[in-house]
Amino acid sequence: MTASQAAARTTALRTRAERVIPGGVSSNVRLLAPRVFFERGAGPRLWDVEGNDYVDYLLGQGPAFLGHAHPRVTEAVARAVRSGMVYGAQHVLEVEAAERFIEAVRWPDLVRFGVSGTESVQGALRLARAATGRRRLLRFAGHYHGWVDNVLMDFGPGGGVPATLGQPADALADWLVAPFNDTDALAEVFSAHGEEIAAVIVEPMMCNQGAIVADPGFLAALRSLATAHGAVLIFDEVITGFRLALGGAAEHYGVTPDLAVYGKALAGGWPVSALAGRADLMARFGTGEVNHSGTFNASVMAAAAVVATLEVLAEDPPYAGVADHGTRLRAGLAALGEKHQVPLRIQGLPAAFHVSFGGPGSAVGTGPARDLGGLRELDLVRYAEFSRLLAGHGVWVAGRGIWYVSAVHGEAELSDALHRVDAALAADSRTPPKTWA
Ligand SMILES: Cc1ncc(COP(=O)(O)O)c(C=O)c1O
Repeated sequence: MTASQAAARTTALRTRAERVIPGGVSSNVRLLAPRVFFERGAGPRLWDVEGNDYVDYLLGQGPAFLGHAHPRVTEAVARAVRSGMVYGAQHVLEVEAAERFIEAVRWPDLVRFGVSGTESVQGALRLARAATGRRRLLRFAGHYHGWVDNVLMDFGPGGGVPATLGQPADALADWLVAPFNDTDALAEVFSAHGEEIAAVIVEPMMCNQGAIVADPGFLAALRSLATAHGAVLIFDEVITGFRLALGGAAEHYGVTPDLAVYGKALAGGWPVSALAGRADLMARFGTGEVNHSGTFNASVMAAAAVVATLEVLAEDPPYAGVADHGTRLRAGLAALGEKHQVPLRIQGLPAAFHVSFGGPGSAVGTGPARDLGGLRELDLVRYAEFSRLLAGHGVWVAGRGIWYVSAVHGEAELSDALHRVDAALAADSRTPPKTWA
């Protein structure tokens, strides 16, 4: 296949996709990404229809934590699926998946599986309201909890507002929004509204905007304030679960929530989510007092994928290797930023970190942003353009800045990725920063 024949394959697919899929993509987060069409993924790499390989630090927005097509997961699912896919009833793998989940995460008593993080968050909020008899909800600026009307939010200095056309403004009326990492502001919200708050939900590391880690003590303060005011504490572990540690952010930070929501890394790439928590809360689903339903919940494939993934994670915990790879990758990126005089800001944890350009005038290695205010200074738009340039050089990352490291990224990927980023920075017409417009 010549280069022009290869490019023609992509162009033809793009035309076909745009004819039948709005914008040519099936999730709006992909609208800003380059229109690459992938043919296959294996371990830490992807291959497009033109035959190019990519070192993948997007991991499908997080799920491919064991790498693409992990043999244990694919074989377990393939074996299970031959006996049927959805029974609308209980089955052996479902019980095994729940047992393994509780064994891995340790603090929850009970778990219910779902299909997406968005829907499991809804279950958690409903359960908290049912248990407390209260209506209001508290969250943090910049945190993401799904795409449906009652949680999707844009954050400006004036507070949270609808983020899309078609979203009724009053869908967000029950929310109180506090700044992340600000214990004093949090205490004030609780002191003003403590009696009304059913639940407080938090991304224990703010991954969706900037991989901002919780300040020491912030999550512990949140835990005590929620307890003191009778509010249910929900950890949204859709990104952090099974990625920061087997027990997720709760284990990593040593703070235990009342309920938590998981997804992404839980099932080796299969669409599975989970809502887990304390028995006295979760039992309300069991009595039928609180509805939680779903045709595909704990399907045979999902349960098989959970069991296989959690077996792999428990038998050979990848966390030290992920931390080592992420640490060296971050150091390599920072060195390349200095080499090319580009003000790269890198923050977060080695397993999931955020890369962005500092604003005009900022120095290389500018310190971490603590909250959304810090992030607004950053040139995220320029970074999104850079992510497209990286794709052209064989590094696949999210346009919003998050980089995910998998259990199977190795030396070859580290070396390839850094060489490719080096080449992309050299090709970036806007470096060095003196030419910043
Ligand atoms: C923290 C967090 N919560 C909830 C969700 C929603 O999960 P899903 O996309 O599976 O609906 C996401 C998705 O990225 C997320 O990052």
